[in-house]
Amino acid sequence: MKEMTYGNVRNAFSGESQAYVRYMLYSEVAEDEGFKNVSLLFDAVVFAEKIHARNLLEISPDGVEASTAPMHSGIGDTETNLDKAIHGEEFETNEMYPSYYEVAKSQEESEAMRIFNWAMRAEKEHAKLYKIARDKVEKGQDIEINLINVCSRCGYTIDEKPPEKCPICGAPQTKFKEFSQN
Ligand code: FE2
Ligand code: FE2
Ligand code: FE2
Repeated sequence: MKEMTYGNVRNAFSGESQAYVRYMLYSEVAEDEGFKNVSLLFDAVVFAEKIHARNLLEISPDGVEASTAPMHSGIGDTETNLDKAIHGEEFETNEMYPSYYEVAKSQEESEAMRIFNWAMRAEKEHAKLYKIARDKVEKGQDIEINLINVCSRCGYTIDEKPPEKCPICGAPQTKFKEFSQN
């Protein structure tokens, strides 16, 4: 793997790992604040970020070291946590993954292109779901979403039953992991 793409894979791995831990902590805060479904949403996206981290690690030739992905400091209340989460997802969707993708493309790194693209499209859904949550929590309400499915191949996340085929990576329905209150 060429150096610049490799650096980007490492950065992305670092960012995904941080998101994984951060969302676990945010989930606990939401639970404590009585937002059970927001907590469930965080749990589902935790799983999605683990998939992203795994995919990046799998294509990384020499193992992955800690790196310099952007970091959001501190744990706030759920509303603040959702704001930070939205910012992170939008950064990944609009800036990080598109530029990493272009570098990988110019370096003809097709595996990295695929993994960056998958993650980018999943992050877009995360931002959307977190925005729904933020708008509710702002008013002191929990979200109505209590069923979430995550593709275990690409991290695609939806607030409904799993589709026949994942629209991002084409994985079959059986590859989806369900998160529900029951
Ligand atoms: Fe991710
Ligand atoms: Fe995400
Ligand atoms: Fe998928």
